[in-house]
Amino acid sequence: MLELQNVNSGYGETQVLHGMNLTAEKGRVLAVLGRNGAGKSTTLKTIMGLLPVRSGTILFDGAQLHGRRPFDVASAGIAYVPETRDIFPSLTVRENLEIAAGRFPPSAGAEAWTLERVLDIFPRLGERMENGGTQLSGGEQQMLAIARALLLNPRLLILDEPTEGLAPIIVKLIHDKLKDLREAGMSMVLVEQNFGFATSLADDVAVVSKGQVVWTGTPGEIRSDTALQHRWLGV
Ligand SMILES: Nc1ncnc2c1ncn2[C@@H]1O[C@H](COP(=O)(O)OP(=O)(O)OP(=O)(O)O)[C@@H](O)[C@H]1O
Ligand SMILES: [Mg+2]
Repeated sequence: MLELQNVNSGYGETQVLHGMNLTAEKGRVLAVLGRNGAGKSTTLKTIMGLLPVRSGTILFDGAQLHGRRPFDVASAGIAYVPETRDIFPSLTVRENLEIAAGRFPPSAGAEAWTLERVLDIFPRLGERMENGGTQLSGGEQQMLAIARALLLNPRLLILDEPTEGLAPIIVKLIHDKLKDLREAGMSMVLVEQNFGFATSLADDVAVVSKGQVVWTGTPGEIRSDTALQHRWLGV
């Protein structure tokens, strides 16, 4: 579904991705793991067109994605929940959601995401509809960021460290909701530092180090290989 081939990118003079190769399959969850500074967020920003591809190829269902602007990547069907969540603080929960709702049509045969549907997943947001973005807890902000991404009717959902800074009970809630989405067939790329969270949700795992994929396999393989975890993740 999504394929990065030999992708180089970075910030100004600094090259961060060095020949990144990554494949995310339709209807599956790909977990991207790696130490701090490995290039995980840079990979996602490059996919989303927020950083230019210096060389290499990004394909989404066979169509060229590299060189396209963030809006075009989103309209192609990829929704991105950044590490920073990027809630509009001056807008209410309702307004944050309404910005996304109906913006892009669902793909053929898919049921459209509506306000009702996302509030069904995150009833807590329903209780906070008239609250401003800044009045939300970290967990509520993450729920809002995911809900807003779903309203874009994505075929692929990309999440950058959705559990970062959240209390264990909220991590569990986010886990269960992402698991439900996975069961419903949503394709996902999940960047995570939380090894247990990531490997219990993923179908496939890629480990990134120094801007390259250094290992791919199954969650079971990496869970049972402590040497591998120690070498590449420091866990
Ligand atoms: N805006 C930026 N300008 C310059 N260098 C950056 C910028 N953002 C990240 N980098 C550098 O790029 C490298 C990869 O960073 P990236 O954010 O992709 O890592 P990461 O794998 O997401 O790490 P983390 O787990 O800490 O989020 C790091 O060396 C980082 O210092
Ligand atoms: Mg990061």
